[in-house]
Amino acid sequence: MLKQRKSIVGLDIGSSCIKAVELTREKYDHVITGYAQIDVHHESSRQDAIAELMAAAKFRTKRVATAVSGKNVVFRFITMPEMNDDKLLQAVRLEAGKYIPFDVEDVELGAQRLEMDSDDLAIKEMKVLLVAAKRAVVQDHSRMLTELGLQPVSVGVDGFALGNAWELGDSINPGVQETGRTVALVDIGATKTSINILRDNISCFAREVPIGGQDLTNAIARRLGIDPSKAEDLKRDPGDDLGVMQEAIGQTLEDLGNEVNLSFDFFENQFDGEVQEVWLTGGTSLLPMLEESFEKIFEKRTKTWNPIEGLMVKADNVDVEALNQLSPQLAVAVGLAAAN
Ligand SMILES: Nc1ncnc2c1ncn2[C@@H]1O[C@H](COP(=O)(O)OP(=O)(O)OP(=O)(O)O)[C@@H](O)[C@H]1O
Ligand SMILES: [Mg+2]
Repeated sequence: MLKQRKSIVGLDIGSSCIKAVELTREKYDHVITGYAQIDVHHESSRQDAIAELMAAAKFRTKRVATAVSGKNVVFRFITMPEMNDDKLLQAVRLEAGKYIPFDVEDVELGAQRLEMDSDDLAIKEMKVLLVAAKRAVVQDHSRMLTELGLQPVSVGVDGFALGNAWELGDSINPGVQETGRTVALVDIGATKTSINILRDNISCFAREVPIGGQDLTNAIARRLGIDPSKAEDLKRDPGDDLGVMQEAIGQTLEDLGNEVNLSFDFFENQFDGEVQEVWLTGGTSLLPMLEESFEKIFEKRTKTWNPIEGLMVKADNVDVEALNQLSPQLAVAVGLAAAN
């Protein structure tokens, strides 16, 4: 029993691909003791896909940490009088109705205090990041996992999972990251892009942009007059058609880059600090030349991030080659497991 509780599976139920990473705490280290991922082609087959994935993965534990995302989750920045964390959630609950498009009675709320330089203000205020997720969605999600014989231990959001994965990386590779930096984590999935900006390892900003790899696939399909499944194959493995593929996705990629850049502008105006580096993850970060394209738009150092760098892997139950090749796609799953 005690042994089992040390393991947890971060289960990232993406709209196009389900990713699961099991982390086990051994002495002072986190070790990857299991990994699996599976593409999902229709929403209706999601539950079956999770069952298939869990059966194939042979994890040690049934405990899973997952996240909800998309249109059922909203992020808002609000200003509150300064107060301690105990009072914060209660106060936010009273205020939330003004800021969110859902009935407060129907949501699960989370609140994170953001650092503030308000020493010179007579009345101290603080900025708070408010996250609201529809309760019915969170409950359905947990119910689905319970029906599969799993034990959901937490339901988070993708953006904060990215932050947790970053923090884990920092703790296992101490000294590699300079302290005090402001970094943006940008996870480009199939239908959306999650952004989390960290200052000195604390989440200061989170947002989702509803553009992702599916839009790139659709752009290829439209431009070349081919069906989406062919376009998807071409996108992932363009071979000699690399130029044709890049030309077809150019505008959509630029739209996405500009939209993400607007978030950086917002952050920089609100928080009086500059995003110094951008780290890309998500399946779409496997696209060739993405770093270069985005670096031009952001005018900041932009790199693909490997969220499992420095983590030990127990190879007997893990396809290490696939794990290493696809690791940027696993940032949310790693972060979900790391947070528990
Ligand atoms: N080698 C590759 N090159 C380019 N794109 C890829 C590659 N492999 C996967 N993708 C794209 O990555 C996307 C899937 O990434 P990911 O698993 O991060 O998304 P998701 O979590 O399912 O989606 P979302 O977060 O939007 O719900 C798909 O759009 C897929 O086409
Ligand atoms: Mg995703």
